[in-house]
Amino acid sequence: MNRILIGAQWGDEGKGKIIDVLARKSDIIVRYQGGNNAGHTVKFGKEKFVLHLIPSGILHPGKICVIGNGVVLDPEAFFEEVKVLEKKGVHVRGRLFVSEQAHLLFPYHRVADALREGSIARKEMIGTTKKGIGPCYADKMARIGVRVGDLKHPEYFRERLASVLREKNQILRKIYGHPGFSFASIYRHFMSYRKSLLKFAVDTPTMLYEAARKKKRLLFEGAQGTMLDVDHGTYPFVTSSNATVGGAIAGSGISPTLIDQVIGVVKAYTTRVGEGPFPTQFPDALMKEIQRKGDEFGSTTGRPRRCGWFDAVVARHAVRINGINEMAVMKLDILSGLPNLRIATAYRLNGKLWKTYPSSIYEFSNCRPVYETVPGWKEDLSLVRRWKDFPRAAKRYLERLEELMETPIRIVSVGSKRHQTVFL
Ligand code: GDP
Ligand code: IMO
Ligand code: MG
Repeated sequence: MNRILIGAQWGDEGKGKIIDVLARKSDIIVRYQGGNNAGHTVKFGKEKFVLHLIPSGILHPGKICVIGNGVVLDPEAFFEEVKVLEKKGVHVRGRLFVSEQAHLLFPYHRVADALREGSIARKEMIGTTKKGIGPCYADKMARIGVRVGDLKHPEYFRERLASVLREKNQILRKIYGHPGFSFASIYRHFMSYRKSLLKFAVDTPTMLYEAARKKKRLLFEGAQGTMLDVDHGTYPFVTSSNATVGGAIAGSGISPTLIDQVIGVVKAYTTRVGEGPFPTQFPDALMKEIQRKGDEFGSTTGRPRRCGWFDAVVARHAVRINGINEMAVMKLDILSGLPNLRIATAYRLNGKLWKTYPSSIYEFSNCRPVYETVPGWKEDLSLVRRWKDFPRAAKRYLERLEELMETPIRIVSVGSKRHQTVFL
C-alpha cells in the first residue's frame, strides 16, 4: 500500500501528526517538495519534535526516511535537525537518505528571499518564511541550481558554483545594493559539509522503485498545502513548489501507477500564516480566542496564524486536484465551547454564486463566503476515542463536512498526541 498525504488547506493542517500515526504501517517515509519552510509537529509522551526537512517518520525506530529530489536542502538546517534528533536519542544514520538530485540551498537564496520581501510594496509581500525557498526553486527552474550530487565531483562543483555566484552577486549588488558573497567562503563552507552530506546521498528514484517492487509500503509526506501550491493555490501568495499530488510524483520519481491512496488533511477550521486572501477569516476577537486555544503560532517562524471558519470550497478544490480518497480532520477539540459553527459552502462574487474555487487572485480576493450555520457543542473532546462517544453536534458537524467535501472522513484528531486519534 503506497500512500500520499496532502495538506488540503494552507498548510499546518496537522500533517506531521498524521504521518507519525501512519508511519507505523509504512516502511519508507518520503518528503518530496518544499524545504525547511515546513514545520511538522509530532508529540508523544512528554516529547515534542518539530521537523522541518527530515520526514516525520524518523521518530519511528527502524523506518527508512527519504528526502526526495523535489526538496530544496539547506545543509545548515539539515545538520542542525540531525543534531537535535541525535541529541534526543533518535538515530538517523543508515536510515535517512537524501536525493543526489535535490537542490542545495545557499546563503544567497536566504538573503535574496529577505531582500525581496523587504523591498516590495506591502500589498505585494508574500510573507515568506525567509528560508530562501522561492529563490532556490527559481534557480532550479532557471537551470542555475546546484545539486547535492554535484558535491561528488569537487572540480565540477567549484566551477559550477563560481559561475552561478558571479550571476547571483551581480543581481544582489545591482538590484539590492547588497555587497554579495565571497566565492571562497561559500565554497569552503559547502566543502566542509561535503563528506558528511554525501554519506546520506543516494539515487533515491531508483531506491524507491526497487523498494516498491519488493512491496515495501511507501508513505509520501507532503509539506505546505493545496492552497499554497504554485499552480493550484492562491498565486502569487503561495510557496514555490507543487504541494499537490503531482509534486509527490515529480519530487520523488515514483510512478503514479504505484500509488494506491491519497489522504487529505484538513483542520476542523482554517488557518493561514503569511499574506494573501482568506475569505473565511474570523473577526478579531474570535481569531484571538482560537489562536490561543489552538496554539496557532507558526512551527517554523512563530508568527501568529490567521484563523477562520471551515471553507468547504477550498477543501473540495483540494479533493478534486489531488484525487483525495479519504480525509483526516484535525483539531476538532479546539471548536468545543463555540455556541454555533459556520461553514462556507460557496462564495458570492459580483452577485453570482461560486461553488468552485475561482483561480484568479483578483476574483478570489473579492469573494464573500456563503455560510451555513450549525450548532456547536460544549463537551471536551480530548478523551474521545470512538465515533459513538462524540457529542451529537460534533457528529453532525463531521457528517456535514464529509458531504460538502464529497469524501469520507477516516480519521478525526482530538488532541496533539498520537493516541488522541479516532479511526472511523
Ligand atoms: P503540519 O505543518 O501540517 O505538520 O502542522 P503543524 O505541526 O505546523 O501544526 C499543527 C499543530 O496542531 C501542531 O502544534 C500539532 O501539535 C497540533 N495538533 C495536531 N492535531 C491536533 C489536534 O487534533 N488537536 C490539537 N489541539 N492540536 C493538534
Ligand atoms: P507546513 O509544511 C504554512 C507559507 C508562508 C508564506 C508562503 C510562502 O508546515 O504546512 P515560502 O517561505 O514557502 O516562500 O513562503 O507559504 N508557508 C507555509 N504556511 N505551513 C507551511 O508548511 C508553510 N510553508 C510556507 O507563510 O505565506
Ligand atoms: Mg507546519
